[in-house]
Amino acid sequence: MAKILVTGGTGYIGSHTVVELQKVGFEVVIVDNLSNSNIEVLNGIEKITGIRPAFENIDCTDYMALDRMFEKYPGIEAIIHFAASKAVGESVEKPLLYYRNNLTSLINLLQLMPIHKVKHFVFSSSCTVYGQPDELPVTENAPIKPALSPYGNTKQICEEIIQDTSHSNPFYRAIILRYFNPIGAHPSAEIGELPNGVPNNLLPYVTQTAAGLRKELKVFGNDYNTPDGTCIRDYINVVDLAKAHVIAVQRLLDEKGEKAVEIFNLGTGTGLSVLDIVNTFERVNGVKVPHSFAPRREGDIEKVWADPTRANTVLGWKAQETVEDTLKSAWTWECRLAKLREEKAANAEE
Ligand code: UD1
Repeated sequence: MAKILVTGGTGYIGSHTVVELQKVGFEVVIVDNLSNSNIEVLNGIEKITGIRPAFENIDCTDYMALDRMFEKYPGIEAIIHFAASKAVGESVEKPLLYYRNNLTSLINLLQLMPIHKVKHFVFSSSCTVYGQPDELPVTENAPIKPALSPYGNTKQICEEIIQDTSHSNPFYRAIILRYFNPIGAHPSAEIGELPNGVPNNLLPYVTQTAAGLRKELKVFGNDYNTPDGTCIRDYINVVDLAKAHVIAVQRLLDEKGEKAVEIFNLGTGTGLSVLDIVNTFERVNGVKVPHSFAPRREGDIEKVWADPTRANTVLGWKAQETVEDTLKSAWTWECRLAKLREEKAANAEE
């Protein structure tokens, strides 16, 4: 079966996607600079699938290193490009880091594709491109709103770069996937989200608070125009999300695309509030998540959820997991991490 390059393959969504690709027989080459992930993720992938993917420690902003990688692994047929910086707050403080990293990586890959005869490209985009949509649920045809952060802007610019490049040369075939809010972990608890330092995103903060690593969760804003006053998002199981990438790659390889660049929303179609998540997490896992209300977080959108009809009908992909099972998987993963920490501490004492 085809050989697929997965950039950012040791990251959160990347690692789950590598598992699903290998499960159906694709050969995977991971490129990652480990800036926000751990090499041990490869062990988790191997435990689940029985296969250790090829790995190259490469920064995608390094054109020459990528070029050499394509020489080393001839016959790569498609690229799934996850590798990018993704912390909204950090991007406000370090915009040039975000523009350099996210834009240069994409440009390098697109430039190298025709040289190495790689036609197919899947890009990780985000619902952040919609800003606060005028109509909900939001479809792929909704207008792109001015970005609220440099991070969000890089996703918009990257989408435009892909469109312009494809327009200039019919060689390229791409699928842009706009993720809503990925959460949860692989049911085996061999891989999951590994945030560095204090988590920015809701779910890792919830699980770390439940585990006692954080004192309490601050719920950012309870005066929004929503039923309980807290923000609403479309939380999507990370394994469901990973499976959509396998379908997207297969669609490209089968040359089934209706256009050179196709765009799909990846969400469940259901919006849940911050309090819905906290309450459901507590109920299904039988643990407490101490929380209190705090002022609104700058740049937060009030409510957004997907219309996933296009992905459902055209891709033939649909989110399957319930939010209950997804929140259980997130907790199982956090408990696994706690156990690993204990083991490491015990080993250090010996
Ligand atoms: C953000 C980005 C998204 C990006 C994602 C991954 C925007 C609008 N969204 O999603 O593009 O892909 O991060 O990094 O730029 N919350 C709390 N307390 C916390 C943490 C979060 O109440 O400690 C709330 C937030 O206010 C929000 C919800 O939980 O309402 C989800 O937040 P988060 O997980 O950070 O994701 P987004 O901001 O939706």
